[in-house]
Amino acid sequence: MRFIGLIAATAVSVAAAPLNHHEVSTRDILPPFSLPDVAPLSTLRAVGVTTKRATFLYGPGIGGGPTSPTGALGLALIAADSALTDTELAAEAVLSTADRGVATLDIAKYNNLKTLDDYTKLYDDEWVQSTNPTGVMPGMLTNYTQDLLFSMERLSLNPYSVRRLIPGQDSLPFIVDSSTVQNVAGTSLSSLLSQGRLFYVDHRDQSSLPRTAQFGAACDAYFYISPSSGAFLPLAIRTNYGSNLIYTPADSANDWLLAKMMFNVNDFFHGQFHHLANTHFVAEVAFQAAVRTLSDNHPVYGVFKRLMYGAFGIRPLAVVVLFRQNGSIDNFFAHSGGAAQTYSATLYNNGVAGAVQSNYFETNLRRRGLIGSTVGPALKSFPFYEDALVIHNSIKKFITSFVNSYYSNDATVVGDAELQAWMGEAVTAGSIDFPSSSTMKTRGQLIDLLSHMAHLVSTSHHTVNTNNLITGGGVLPLNPSALYKDIPTAKGVTNVADYLIPVGPVLDMIQNQAFFSRPLIAGSNRTLINMFNDAIMLSRMNSATRAANTKFMSEMQAQSQVVKNRKFDAQGLSQGMPFLWQSLDPNVAPWSLTI
Ligand SMILES: *[C@@H]1O[C@H](CO)[C@@H](O)[C@H](O)[C@H]1NC(C)=O
Ligand SMILES: *[C@@H]1O[C@H](CO)[C@@H](O)[C@H](O)[C@H]1NC(C)=O
Ligand SMILES: *[C@@H]1O[C@H](CO)[C@@H](O)[C@H](O)[C@H]1NC(C)=O
Ligand SMILES: [Fe+2]
Repeated sequence: MRFIGLIAATAVSVAAAPLNHHEVSTRDILPPFSLPDVAPLSTLRAVGVTTKRATFLYGPGIGGGPTSPTGALGLALIAADSALTDTELAAEAVLSTADRGVATLDIAKYNNLKTLDDYTKLYDDEWVQSTNPTGVMPGMLTNYTQDLLFSMERLSLNPYSVRRLIPGQDSLPFIVDSSTVQNVAGTSLSSLLSQGRLFYVDHRDQSSLPRTAQFGAACDAYFYISPSSGAFLPLAIRTNYGSNLIYTPADSANDWLLAKMMFNVNDFFHGQFHHLANTHFVAEVAFQAAVRTLSDNHPVYGVFKRLMYGAFGIRPLAVVVLFRQNGSIDNFFAHSGGAAQTYSATLYNNGVAGAVQSNYFETNLRRRGLIGSTVGPALKSFPFYEDALVIHNSIKKFITSFVNSYYSNDATVVGDAELQAWMGEAVTAGSIDFPSSSTMKTRGQLIDLLSHMAHLVSTSHHTVNTNNLITGGGVLPLNPSALYKDIPTAKGVTNVADYLIPVGPVLDMIQNQAFFSRPLIAGSNRTLINMFNDAIMLSRMNSATRAANTKFMSEMQAQSQVVKNRKFDAQGLSQGMPFLWQSLDPNVAPWSLTI
């Protein structure tokens, strides 16, 4: 494995100079961060930038997708990041291998996975010894047949696939038997649409992707805000495969549950490979452009580098663990590792995941009609927004203090040649919808851009990845990554368990999900609370930025308590969901990207 060698070769130099190892000319000085026009460093830093440009080059995307670093400095940064990333994965692998040993000894209790209830036994006192100490999200193993649990997954576990249909603008993507809709929703499909109560998820783009030995449909589905209860609920799922059946809650319990699982197979694939494009690719491309334009003494570079902790190590690891032939995607998904690469690259290139400004946190949710909708009722509960907003607001407050302390007015933003060069360079690097040098004119715009990068690498990422797979997003029986029996051509399924992963590969599958968990980070200096709490970086920042970090940390501590104290209410719900969602605990989730 190529990158293992690189790690060994650079480990020493990384340890010796954790922050500034690649700007040799200033490594021993570590001057305060400053904007480029501050003499006497201006000449020295120009030389530093020129050197970086000569040695940090754009290469082919590792594992597909937009550019990855190359050149001497580019490869050195990948190697240094790989050392961090691989070490964290190796520590996790030790934990999950121990749990795997226990799970294997307990194989008899899974009863050969004959029933759905047997699937819940896979997590009964399993994987909790080390790798998943907090266990599966409460409710996920007891309430998984409830429609509200399934629909609210769209607003928490993967909040990136659903959108509201807009009356007068969207037409109905498919028609559902009208008396069935009337029975389920109390009104017609077209009136739900005209009232702005109809929502849609479209995974039809998965139908043309190369397949594996496993099975998956290419579902699209309706969700709606109930006129009677105001709850957000599922209405219909169409498979777009084989007989192209349309399922609704009026079907038999077995048929409808299988339909929800078929949808989840597609949504799981979407969640994982959308996140690769939307968080990793976007942040990496922006950072590569930053490396080539901002001096290591630029305060914006200082903050961005902190956010990108270990980031370049992740794609090389994904090639080895996920994408390779007979890797974990080939083995546990309905579509191959190659298909996943194609899908991520497409979502990046068409802007759905790749666009920068139009995917700013609230802009993205507004565009999909999930917040501030001008039509229809507001969502009664939107857990992802609720939790992510608190973190986003605190990030933005920190970034605001930071930017305003270095830029005394908007003119200084326009006048910062390095910053403006970054804007131009980002397009060259392959960034989509990045602010251009002709549009980046205010401190507010810079604040929005940096806040977005911090949001992507933390909140946005960890909602769909990291600990979330083994605690919720990938938990059986409701959330399979593939079916193991072909999609039925008629309704009337008798045993849904027949469609799920058999006992043979199941522990491999769970351990693969465990590889993404980072239980050792909880409570450590690697959590989101510490996003800006880098002693060396802060020592080179101004006092306003240091004070802003102290404030950020105490706000995140408080939010951690809010999330930790979350319980079911008298209705058995939490944030309006029949499961307890605690993924965005700032004292558990890391601040930076992980594999
Ligand atoms: C969901 O599951 C939890 C834990 O098993 C239970 O306490 C709660 O009442 C359930 N909620 C509903 C709505 O059934
Ligand atoms: C593919 O991977 C699986 C699971 O890791 C393994 O059991 C199997 O032997 C591999 N097959 C080949 C052909 O390498
Ligand atoms: C976290 O703390 C440990 C132990 O003090 C230290 O070795 C490590 O470098 C720190 N990590 C980060 C990312 O600050
Ligand atoms: Fe990731």
